[in-house]
Amino acid sequence: MYICRGINHLIVLHMRQYEVTSRIAVYEMEELPVEDRELVEAACRVTESSYAPYSHFHVGAAARLSDGTIFVGSNQEAAAFPSGMCAERTTLYAALAQHPDQKVLALAIAAQTGGHFLEDPITPCGACRQVMLETEDRLGQDIRVLLYGTKGVHVLQNVKSLLPIYFVADCMK
Ligand code: THU
Repeated sequence: MYICRGINHLIVLHMRQYEVTSRIAVYEMEELPVEDRELVEAACRVTESSYAPYSHFHVGAAARLSDGTIFVGSNQEAAAFPSGMCAERTTLYAALAQHPDQKVLALAIAAQTGGHFLEDPITPCGACRQVMLETEDRLGQDIRVLLYGTKGVHVLQNVKSLLPIYFVADCMK
């Protein structure tokens, strides 16, 4: 409780606060379980299919579905800038359009520019986090997130760790 004294009155503020924390584990590639390594390698490979003549920032994503299928996608830019699409959303939309009955177990993301993968991992933009979060929420399945950097792979156990205070359909009730 915080007591604030004004000239003529006493105001009592019942201020509360809370902290939000996320746990991120950082692994060397060789330390990852084989399935995760496969997924990260697929994300790295598919950066080659990125169409990024404007940003020269080539992003790849790979999703592992519950039946074991790996689905890949990359960023696709357009001269009319807002029309382009990030790798994460390209991948999730395509995967779920073709496999609407599957859950997404993990999503790996990698990026290269100037012919080099980033040392510190790429982290998804806000719009992609929102879509990843809604996918996790509606399918009722945590999506592990693997963010590749040459100095280490950052692993989060779910998308909520990336976007801890989030908006989903339930918020509108
Ligand atoms: N981009 C992605 O594909 N994923 C992200 O998480 C961040 C940004 C793309 C969009 C655009 O084509 C380029 O990277 C530069 O922003």
